[in-house]
Amino acid sequence: MNCSIAPGKILLFGEHFVVKGKPALGLAVSMYVHVCVEPGSWVIYSRQLGFINHDSKHRSLFNTLIEKIISEYSSVQPLNIYIDSELPIASGMGSSAAVAVATTHAILSFMGVEFTKEEVWKIAHEAEKTVHYKPSGVDTTLATYGGFLYYRQGSFEKLDLKLPEGTSLIIVNSRVGRSTGEVVKDVLSRYEHLGEIGELIYSAAEKIVEKALDALRKNDAETLGELMLVNHGLLWAMGASSEICDKIVYDLLKAGALGGKISGAGRGGVIIGLINNQELPRARELLSMKNHEFYFVHPDYQGVRSVE
Ligand code: MEV
Repeated sequence: MNCSIAPGKILLFGEHFVVKGKPALGLAVSMYVHVCVEPGSWVIYSRQLGFINHDSKHRSLFNTLIEKIISEYSSVQPLNIYIDSELPIASGMGSSAAVAVATTHAILSFMGVEFTKEEVWKIAHEAEKTVHYKPSGVDTTLATYGGFLYYRQGSFEKLDLKLPEGTSLIIVNSRVGRSTGEVVKDVLSRYEHLGEIGELIYSAAEKIVEKALDALRKNDAETLGELMLVNHGLLWAMGASSEICDKIVYDLLKAGALGGKISGAGRGGVIIGLINNQELPRARELLSMKNHEFYFVHPDYQGVRSVE
């Protein structure tokens, strides 16, 4: 049996504004999709979704990547694929990309062929297209390479950064589903309607990313937390937040976080916070008391890899 894992991701800064050419900063985090393959008969089983049969809407992702592997390498003997994901589904954490990346990696490792991460990325990106209309490639890139990713207008740059020393990230799942397309559409229509004010908000979002990179380089957790809050405020102004998202941001602050914001499309999905490690016990207690589903995570710097 060959097993691989690929990390999920969060957006630290810049979601939505990125749609109009502003920069964004993504980060791969220590929550993983685990995929194991072994000789079988193309049975695909997900611990969370059950059997992914031929009539399942999730099957096309696997069919595409298997076809791609066959066309790029050689025929593959029938395998069974087992998937176990720590990522909340449809919450903006890139679970489908991480599944595609980990599955491709596990199959190529099983085949014993030589391959690079770039080849895994290409195959997974094709498969991801069957799930998301015109995927930006951010989720696939973070699942493949890990670390911090600066992106702007379709170009990606992996940055050699670390989270400020002694801090962790908290991810709270709002457990509210939403349509990314719908939120993006509403935000864009507010942007058009606001005219010059919209321009100013988007320019401020761009400055936030620049200042955040500076804060990361200077190991300045307080500024980073503050910038997360300001970024959340701008997303709120553009209509991407919701009562539950705002409430979670306040709960994170009460729990000792230095800042918090939505991550991804907003109006649900996950909310992220930055916190000093000494505050973690208090945060655990407070967030549990409020019945939140939350995770303490750190950056994943490695991306997809084989595991025992
Ligand atoms: C969604 O994860 C991120 C958005 O900026 C949309 C996009 O960039 O395609 C809201």
